[in-house]
Amino acid sequence: MNYDPVLDNHGLPMGPFKSISVPRPIAWVSTMSKDGKSNLAPYSQYMNLTFDPPYVMLSINQTTEGVRKDTCNNIEQTGEFVINMPTYELREALNRTATQFPPGVDEFIEAGVTKAPSIKVKPYRVEESPIQLECIHHQTLRLPGAGAQGTCDVIIGKVVMIHIKDEVIGENGQIDIVKIRPLARLGYWNYTSVTDSFEMVIPNANKELLVGLQGAKQK
Ligand SMILES: Cc1cc2nc3c(=O)[nH]c(=O)nc-3n(C[C@H](O)[C@H](O)[C@H](O)COP(=O)(O)O)c2cc1C
Repeated sequence: MNYDPVLDNHGLPMGPFKSISVPRPIAWVSTMSKDGKSNLAPYSQYMNLTFDPPYVMLSINQTTEGVRKDTCNNIEQTGEFVINMPTYELREALNRTATQFPPGVDEFIEAGVTKAPSIKVKPYRVEESPIQLECIHHQTLRLPGAGAQGTCDVIIGKVVMIHIKDEVIGENGQIDIVKIRPLARLGYWNYTSVTDSFEMVIPNANKELLVGLQGAKQK
């Protein structure tokens, strides 16, 4: 089959597009409004962009009423956010924070998760999350779209502090992803989590390329 995404003529019960870029990592984004109210919400249109220095992006669609979401407003107004890595164990708490609460509702409380202070930014980290990235807003790219939700803001942030719980660093000095079981988004209402991993190194690659792919700083 094939279909034109503008015509949406796939003939299937649900749009298949969001089932294609999968699995998507989920950024559980904590922000603070300019008057100091905490906000927490999941975003799976999320990725790292580069590593030296590290930058990330998240794409925030408008609400069903056609206005910007709280996360977007808070980042635009304060210039700061934190990305918390959600795990399989945290899945129900994460899901509760996707409710479209009015601005000012503290989703840390709604989800029953603990606030941990950050070092370089004001928004709190989720204590229960094994890894968190403190970010400074770099730029917003607004993409026009159809309907109330189609238009989105692609937020680019520079990572200025990285927190990793000691207990998820294995004896080999690597993050033990299988132990963490990061939660990831599939299409429809489906999710997965990472339960296995395997190693594969590029053959005959020069040392600099391998260092870059591994994500280390160029010395
Ligand atoms: C797993 C998951 C991933 C989501 N990813 C996105 C996303 O990438 N972009 C988006 O605009 N909304 C996404 N949402 C919906 C938002 O989390 C939801 O609209 C939330 O109410 C926004 O909260 P806020 O207004 O406090 O930012 C996602 C929801 C879930 C459950």
